[in-house]
Amino acid sequence: MPDAFQNDPHEIKVGKVEPRGAPCVEFSPDPSAMVIFGASGDLTRRKLIPALFKLSRTGIIGDDFFVLGVARTEMDSEGFRTAMEEAVKAHGEFETAAWERFAKRLFYISADYGDEGAYAAIASFLEEKEGVFATKGNRIFYVATPPSVYETVTGLLGASGLAGEKAGWTRLVVEKPYGRDTGSARRLDEAVLSSFSEPQVYRIDHYLGKETVQNILMLRFANTIFEPLWNRHFIDHVQITVAETLGVERRAGYYEQAGVLRDMFQNHMMQVLALASMEPPSVYDPELVRDERSKVLLALRRPPLERMDDWLCLGQYVEGEIDGKAVPGYTEEEGVARSSQVPTFAAMRVYIDNWRWQGVPIYLRSGKRLKKRLSEVSVQFRNVPHLMFKDTIGGEIGPNTLILKIQPEERIQLKFHTKYPGSRVCLRDVFMDFSYLEGYRGLTLGAYERVLMDCMLGDKTLFVRKDGVSLSWEFLTPILEYIEKSGKGAPDVNLYRAGSYGPTEADKLMSKDGRRWRNE
Ligand code: NDP
Ligand code: BG6
Repeated sequence: MPDAFQNDPHEIKVGKVEPRGAPCVEFSPDPSAMVIFGASGDLTRRKLIPALFKLSRTGIIGDDFFVLGVARTEMDSEGFRTAMEEAVKAHGEFETAAWERFAKRLFYISADYGDEGAYAAIASFLEEKEGVFATKGNRIFYVATPPSVYETVTGLLGASGLAGEKAGWTRLVVEKPYGRDTGSARRLDEAVLSSFSEPQVYRIDHYLGKETVQNILMLRFANTIFEPLWNRHFIDHVQITVAETLGVERRAGYYEQAGVLRDMFQNHMMQVLALASMEPPSVYDPELVRDERSKVLLALRRPPLERMDDWLCLGQYVEGEIDGKAVPGYTEEEGVARSSQVPTFAAMRVYIDNWRWQGVPIYLRSGKRLKKRLSEVSVQFRNVPHLMFKDTIGGEIGPNTLILKIQPEERIQLKFHTKYPGSRVCLRDVFMDFSYLEGYRGLTLGAYERVLMDCMLGDKTLFVRKDGVSLSWEFLTPILEYIEKSGKGAPDVNLYRAGSYGPTEADKLMSKDGRRWRNE
């Protein structure tokens, strides 16, 4: 039980969190070898190796594990270790003794992804080291190359026999973007599934690995107090925001082909939406959870393309200030066409056509170079049916709001109204505020640490199934085609200053419905 409420002028805080008796399960992954294609790249350096090192340093993976990096860049295993040590120092938590132990498990082969001989070399390398590290023949192939290389690698893994399972299991991890529309995602699936079977394939969406994204299901389905209200009878609307302060960074080549709808909506936004709105499966089983997520995507209402302006607002950042520092506009970034119309911001209204959500607008918003980094799901409840205080206090009172903050702060906040203390009769908004890590001193796993561990465990709950990818593309592709091909009647790309909340036109999208974004 919370033992106290600390009151400050605007906030009520839960005093203490009781970890006692919290039911939890600890996992121990199978031994395995991980082959990373594209190991000279940014993802390997910034995310994969720091994540694997943390899993090793904390004892989640043991000594019965090794990594084979594969890429064209000329390097030997020693050079790879040196580069990865620098990467962990820059992007992870470094510890000398643990690193020395881990580094002995890092190897590298320089090879061309399209060279059949390279796959024979990989096979004999694996066979040799599997005996040394006792990995029981379990293999993970992680394709961390640009998407143009995915089909070559998966095809040759199949042709060389490496995709098969002999002594242990074999799994394939594929990064996003998974295709760029319905057709290309389908073709990629055909290529991948001609070498691997669907149970072997792990499609990453690292948002699903974020603790507080997973917590959406725990909050909804491990409590009785929220779920009875989680429907059209009590919820006015939902806002899902993923706001970034970062710009396009050094990824203009990719981003110019993608834009915010492919980069953030097709995957992360849709998956968060699915978790926030899905039905409870009978058991927490990967396939049943993924069934329910897919059903949400299947029920998304197709917006009328001729009235896209009422449903979608696009934006692109121009120069401005982030944290007091001047930053360039999108079209001034290196590698971006000066006349680029690629959207870096989108706000979209969607509806889920089922019994639970009929008529409840869900507003999705994501953009780069916005005022603050903030990801959250904000559930806004209906107003009281009749305000008995209206003659006493005058004016409107706002709705109760439940805010699931995903990052950078991991919190759950409930906004409600109380009497303002004192002689006058007036109301004030207060927040019941729970910090996700409050009262917890143990190990926390970042998104990549979590999904890599789950892949070794063979738990696919946090990965996207073939139908999950394709349903999301089926919803977005007509919209993308309309924007990119027809031009006529397509929504404008509205300019917004870097460091703002996005284009003011996005406010109109909501204000037409009599609603406002939650910006704080
Ligand atoms: P990089 O651009 O850094 O590419 C990875 C490696 O692939 C390069 O080091 C290079 O190695 C090789 N490569 C690059 N271009 C080509 C090409 N045209 N043909 C063949 N090989 C090429 O990519 P990232 O590491 O940033 O990303 C890898 C994958 O992960 C991408 O699909 C990306 O979308 C995805 N991703 C990345 C994220 C990130 O934070 N970086 C986040 C989420 C997803 P070499 O020349 O040595 O062969
Ligand atoms: C990636 C996108 O998938 O997610 C990037 O390609 C984006 O453009 C990133 O910056 C955001 O992830 P996170 O974990 O930093 O919120």
